[in-house]
Order: sequence, then C-alpha cells, then structure tokens
Amino acid sequence: MSLSRLLQSLTSRFTRGITTRTQLLNHLIATRGYQNYLEIGVRDRRHNFDKIKAPGIKHGCDPAPLRTISHVMTSDAFFAQHAKLGGKPYDLVFIDGLHIADQVERDIVNALDHLTPDGTVVLHDCNPLTADAQTDDYDGKKHWNGTVWKAIVKLRATRDDLAIWVLDMDEGCGMVRRGTQTKLVVPTTDYAALDYAYLEKERAAALNLRPVTDLERLMQGHA
Ligand SMILES: C[S@@+](CC[C@H](N)C(=O)[O-])C[C@H]1O[C@@H](n2cnc3c(N)ncnc32)[C@H](O)[C@@H]1O
Repeated sequence: MSLSRLLQSLTSRFTRGITTRTQLLNHLIATRGYQNYLEIGVRDRRHNFDKIKAPGIKHGCDPAPLRTISHVMTSDAFFAQHAKLGGKPYDLVFIDGLHIADQVERDIVNALDHLTPDGTVVLHDCNPLTADAQTDDYDGKKHWNGTVWKAIVKLRATRDDLAIWVLDMDEGCGMVRRGTQTKLVVPTTDYAALDYAYLEKERAAALNLRPVTDLERLMQGHA
C-alpha cells in the first residue's frame, strides 16, 4: 500500500465515528488547534453549545434562547455590533439560526468576514430528505430543515474562492472554507425558482455530498 493510501485509510478510520454536529465541531477544534467559536442559533445551550470544547472565546447569538447566552440578538444585529466593536475573528462558526436561504447566505458571508484565514464555517440542516422538510415556513411541529440547502447551492454556483461540501450526517452538515471550487452549473440561483425537484435529482452534485470519511482530504483542499 502506498504511503498516501495508508494515510487516507488511517484518517478515514479516525473520522468514521463522527455522527453528530457536536462531534464534528469538537473534531475540528482538536485537530486544527481552533480557539474561538461562535454559534448562530443556540436555543438550549445544553444540547450543543455547552459541549463545544473551544479553549478561547465562546460566543452564542440567538434572539430567543431558552437559557442564558452571551448575545441575545439576531445574527444580523450581532455581526453589525461585532464589527463596530472590532471583535476578534473566530476559527469556527456554527450556523444553525434562521433556516431561510437568504438569511443563511447572509450569515455565511458575515461569518467569512469574521473568520481566521484557516477557519471553517459549519452549517446544520443542509440535506432535507423530503419536500415538506424544506419549506420556508415552519409550524413548530414537523421535521424541518428549511431552505439552508439553497444557500449552499447558490454559493457553490457563484463563489470559486470558496470550497464547499456537505457531510452526509446529522441532517447534512455543510462546510465552507476559503479555497477553490469549480462553479456548479445550476438552472437558477433565484431562491424562489430553485425547487426540491432539482435537489432530488441532483442531490449529490448540488450539495457536494460526501461521506464523513472524506473529511480530512476535503480539509486539506482535495476535491
Ligand atoms: C435549530 S435551533 C438551534 C439549535 C442548536 N444550535 C443546537 O445545535 O442544539 C435554531 C435557533 O435559531 C434561533 N434563531 C432564529 N432566528 C435567528 C436569527 N435571525 N439569528 C440567530 N438565531 C436565530 C432560534 O431562536 C432558535 O433558538
């Protein structure tokens, strides 16, 4: 076995056990020496935020959290204030707030503006498996991922200065880093016109849907 095949087999074994967003975020912190963490959309901090082992700054923003958090406000308000206060950049930003495509796109762009050069943005709920799970409206009861996927598709189609993929785990964990990608050819980047039929037909290519065992290769910039 060649050295690169051996290394790939070892790192695959290492990442195979990652099945939740929390494990993924902690894996990134442990393997990349990340310090500062921001979570957009915290809700109950005991479910994810409190379990994140970032040794530096930990910030959470949410306009309606269930428990105390550092910033009780929307992500737009948070970024406006953070920039004004000359806030420190984050190594890792987890976007899990308002799951509507244009808000998610704004959250990604704002997060990139406050990200260290080797930093990573992770997004939850990128891979809805039914049309009903990816509506723009939410009744508070059904299984809902929202239209996060549309923001992923649009940025894969329009930004060749980023590397974007979705890990096939925990509702689809999207990852955005500075890098390169070949722009995806899409029927439209208009969120209203991009429909679930397109996602169903083109899911793997549209999302760049990858097994978690590809994580280390992707982090190193391999397509
Ligand atoms: C899916 S929950 C977050 C779950 C949490 N990240 C976890 O992993 O357990 C979504 C949260 O986003 C919050 N939210 C809604 N609109 C928001 C916005 N504009 N900015 C930030 N958070 C928002 C909601 O109040 C809600 O608590």
